[in-house]
Amino acid sequence: MPPPIQLLPPFETVSWSPTERALRVLDQRRLPNAETYLDIRTLDELIDAIRTLAVRGAPAIGVAAAMGLAVLVERELQLDAASAERTRDAATRDTLHARVVSLASAIETARPTAVNLRWALQRMCKRAEHERAEQLVSALREEATRIREEDRAMCHAIGQHGAPLISQGAHVLTHCNAGALATAGIGTALAPLYVAQSRGVSFKVFADETRPLLQGARLTAWELQRAGIDVTVLPDGAAASLLATGRISAVFVGADRIAANGDVANKIGTYGLALAARAHGVPFHVCAPSSTFDVQTATGAEITIEHRDASELATFGELRVLPDNVDVYNPAFDVTPHSLVTHYITDRGLLRPPFHD
Ligand code: MRU
Repeated sequence: MPPPIQLLPPFETVSWSPTERALRVLDQRRLPNAETYLDIRTLDELIDAIRTLAVRGAPAIGVAAAMGLAVLVERELQLDAASAERTRDAATRDTLHARVVSLASAIETARPTAVNLRWALQRMCKRAEHERAEQLVSALREEATRIREEDRAMCHAIGQHGAPLISQGAHVLTHCNAGALATAGIGTALAPLYVAQSRGVSFKVFADETRPLLQGARLTAWELQRAGIDVTVLPDGAAASLLATGRISAVFVGADRIAANGDVANKIGTYGLALAARAHGVPFHVCAPSSTFDVQTATGAEITIEHRDASELATFGELRVLPDNVDVYNPAFDVTPHSLVTHYITDRGLLRPPFHD
């Protein structure tokens, strides 16, 4: 039997810049108002793009970090031909590997919760370990491309495994953006929707706006609308009462890190949604690729939660909405206990915790 056709989004979240040595990302800070691409050439630009969410979503961050690392090494080694000669002659395999590791450690500090970042960078460092200097750049490019292709394939497999859970006329609720914009492929939580759509199933999606950075309103609504999927945006505070109406068939969310016992770190508000879904008997599905499972972390209590700048809450657009000198609590993620998860929809099928290597 021929392999199933891979669905691909009509944009590239993360790619190689076609004209020069650069990483190209779709600048998500400007969506939905402008579809612009950002070329990244330096370590500072890469860290800034990840921190400020130009590129975001756990799998996309991992892919961007891997490709960005390859670009940084290539640029350092090829700044000009003469110094490249000198560098190659002088550099031993060990010093080059040490440089790759040091760049990777710097990139890893950009965001702490999504394990995909560490996972992708560790793979890149391992690949660099045994490469001769003259092969290092092509080896890193090859490994980063492989990470991107694998992510695409994992998204597709998640879609295949999750699509049967979406029946004709279903009403699906989602939170944040775990779609194509968050990956190199068709997303995680949204992948089952794209596959179901390709099979002729019609359904409706409700997208939490996802305060404070509005990934649901700005990004999920944008990509679903472009795909011709019926989407309605609601304020986060309306999700529990919508679940109470009985109109929602299932909740689908993504994950930034899944601990060995199945606890799930995901966008702030996911835990409240899981509690509300349980209270109203609605299935709560977590969709994630293998790269999001962190079996070294025993439970969710051990996951580092990123806290972000107070300005994200203090302002709405240009307008300041908080009185001066008010304290702000702004965690970017929360942890949903495994007991609230109905299915873990992964590239390897529907799994149950505890998770192992
Ligand atoms: O802060 P963000 O926008 O990077 O948060 C993204 C999420 O929480 C997603 O749900 C998660 O990374 C899964 S993306 C496939």
